[in-house]
Amino acid sequence: MLDYNYWRTKKEIIGIGVMAGTSFDGIDVAAVCFHEEKIELLHFKTYPFLKKIIPDLFKLRDGRAIDLESFTRFHWTLGVLFADCVLDTMKAVKLKPDFIASHGQTVYHTPEYRSDDILFHGGTLQIGEASVIAEKTGILTISDFRHADIAVGGEGAPLIPWFDAYYFSHPQKQRIFLNIGGIANFTLVPPGGDMDKLVAYDTGPGNMVIDKLCERLFSLPFDKGGYLAAQGSVDYPLLKELLQDTYFDLPGPKSTGRERYGAAYSEKLLSIGQKRSIQPVDLLATATKLTSRTIADAITREIHRNEDFEVFVSGGGWHNTTLMAMLESDLKSKNIFDFSETGISGDAKEAAGFAALGKATLCGQHANVPSVTGAKKNVFLGKISLPG
Ligand SMILES: Nc1ncnc2c1ncn2[C@@H]1O[C@H](COP(=O)(O)OP(=O)(O)O)[C@@H](O)[C@H]1O
Ligand SMILES: [Mg+2]
Repeated sequence: MLDYNYWRTKKEIIGIGVMAGTSFDGIDVAAVCFHEEKIELLHFKTYPFLKKIIPDLFKLRDGRAIDLESFTRFHWTLGVLFADCVLDTMKAVKLKPDFIASHGQTVYHTPEYRSDDILFHGGTLQIGEASVIAEKTGILTISDFRHADIAVGGEGAPLIPWFDAYYFSHPQKQRIFLNIGGIANFTLVPPGGDMDKLVAYDTGPGNMVIDKLCERLFSLPFDKGGYLAAQGSVDYPLLKELLQDTYFDLPGPKSTGRERYGAAYSEKLLSIGQKRSIQPVDLLATATKLTSRTIADAITREIHRNEDFEVFVSGGGWHNTTLMAMLESDLKSKNIFDFSETGISGDAKEAAGFAALGKATLCGQHANVPSVTGAKKNVFLGKISLPG
């Protein structure tokens, strides 16, 4: 049994959060210090994946077949890589953390239950064996954060809303925390940050479709600064068709991933582009606009327009200037800021957020928000691996 009282009364807790997002672009590691109810970022770095593992990594990313031996080995290899990243971060901060929170690399996310199917139970799978991390670092490691929420009927996502409301609410203003990773999601935090009144969900693709089109059309991993999309024009008839997707109009709770907006979705878009002779830069501009429009539509639907609001953006999408200009226009708002203004770098946000969720586990705090995940009840998130 955890000694909740020890963790709750400890004046300073150091945690390291490890996150590998749906973009498969690297391993984000954030070292943070919790001073009672405050959080401070001590160090952040994105570590590239080892070249050797890229072929298998991309198979998993694109939903291609991978044999069970490779998959099993991969799970353990990732555990070693995550541990090495943590050890490097420990060297950089010259501190031994109290705990590690490892989100893992999501390989599949299907929270839906199918009562008419033998495979009725929905689920999610993040890999990177936590026992290896605990053993190699000698530090208590928390992992598998999404599982407990799905076990009580939730989507297992998004989990960052708790972090948004706990640390960054404003007494008078509505705040929207938008993260544009592979998938885009937002949390609407009402003034005062009441957890029961949060609205949060995945809006649809973030950078996922943009990245795939860049890879296939320009042999580039992503559209740096949105430079390529800026040279194109949006194909509005195609955009209108893409917006008919039933996911966008669904009310929350909802979450999505590569299963819906991964390689197969982009291949379909590429073949439409080819059939209609749409220029590559125009197709990219259209995909960029799809991200912007679906984010803006979702936020507009949820926000109380007559009250002040601020939007804080994190994740790689913040660096896509074309996307951010589109968002400013689609949202009809100038109150769009870099999440880094909160004191935590926007690139580090999710890794820092999982560290905060790890601290909540140790302190015996429920950190799923049933109103946003759809869970039947509050649960403790994460599983604990202890070093020998
Ligand atoms: N300078 C940049 N210009 C445009 N897009 C960028 C830039 N840097 C990162 N990105 C985008 O952000 C993505 C990574 O975002 P990230 O927040 O790490 O997502 P995830 O959490 O899914 O890994 C990249 O794949 C790329 O699309
Ligand atoms: Mg990433």
